[in-house]
Amino acid sequence: MRRLRVNIPGREYELVIGAGLLRSAGALLRDVIPCKRAFVVTDGNVAPLYGETLCAALRNERIEPSLLTVPPGEGSKSQAVLFGLYDKMLEAQITRGDVIIALGGGVIGDLAGYAAATLLRGIPFVQIPTTLLSQTDSSVGGKVAINHPHGKNLIGAFHQPKLVIADTDTLKTLPLRELACGLAEVIKHGAIADAGLFSLLEEDVSDYAGLIDRNCDIKRRVVEADEFDTGGRFVLNFGHTFGHAVEAQGGFSRYNHGEAVAIGMVTAAVLGEKLGVTTSGTAERLRRVLTLHGLPVSSDEAPDWSLTLTDKKRDGDTLRLVLLKEIGEAILYPIDVNKLLELLK
Ligand code: NAD
Ligand code: GLY
Repeated sequence: MRRLRVNIPGREYELVIGAGLLRSAGALLRDVIPCKRAFVVTDGNVAPLYGETLCAALRNERIEPSLLTVPPGEGSKSQAVLFGLYDKMLEAQITRGDVIIALGGGVIGDLAGYAAATLLRGIPFVQIPTTLLSQTDSSVGGKVAINHPHGKNLIGAFHQPKLVIADTDTLKTLPLRELACGLAEVIKHGAIADAGLFSLLEEDVSDYAGLIDRNCDIKRRVVEADEFDTGGRFVLNFGHTFGHAVEAQGGFSRYNHGEAVAIGMVTAAVLGEKLGVTTSGTAERLRRVLTLHGLPVSSDEAPDWSLTLTDKKRDGDTLRLVLLKEIGEAILYPIDVNKLLELLK
């Protein structure tokens, strides 16, 4: 078992990473939050695999679990599903002394986290990520959100978890397509902050546990420096301005989040090279590593880039794009939105 600490003053928490941790989840939780009830939000794929193991681990510590299961997939980051959770938790008279646990991938983390941020103005929240994407990225940093028909993650909050428990054994049941989606965000971390990690990914990725530690450490450092996304944290959005547009255009079902980010990263690298900001050859390196890991590098329909206009990094007519200087170093590049749309034609 490895422990990493996220040092945000007043909101510090630990990331506990290791094999078989689900069975110790009650004891790990008990050390951090003295609660009697836990509302476990999960999805229809994860519930039959891990729901009972977690509930048993909670009962062992005399914490009474309620399992709330939503449909799998991005569609659950919606107002209807969120309000369904509010209904169930309020009917059960949830209090601020209880805890909400997200058991699942990034969809569940974002959805349950947003419910925790908003119900009664804030309920303690724990992340138990079960996908490579959520173990290496989304469970760390406190961004929680649902989608709006106008775009991705447009309704959200910052609500740091009290604890993150990443049981690497849960990756054994993860479909290959979902493993690849996780690798997209791992490749992103290499591209923006760790050229050595990127080179490793160009060859071998058999050590998932090592990848999780290294990626959580990158994300931890960025979040500690800019918790509320005022500038430095923007780099984590490399590929996302374009990826979110691709995801929205496909109705959040054609491409998974990681696949859309893969397409978005190549788009950003091609644009960066065109603008003379990115070292030439970078887009080709990205294309090769993404293809190696089974990820798409272009959209199968002509992208509607006007969907980038709802990006949260937009301020008036200026959008602060994240581009690469080279592999391992990201920069912010303010650009007029009309010029951007022109360049993308
Ligand atoms: P996901 O939560 O939809 O999980 C992918 C699929 O895997 C689902 O069908 C799920 O049921 C299934 N699954 C989960 N764990 C499993 C397991 N152990 N075994 C078998 N099946 C399993 O998707 P994701 O890729 O984990 O997350 C994507 C979401 O994360 C997007 O909504 C994205 O916006 C969000 N995200 C958030 C942040 C953040 O900082 N908050 C960062 C990156 C991505
Ligand atoms: N996934 C982007 C962030 O956490 O800031």
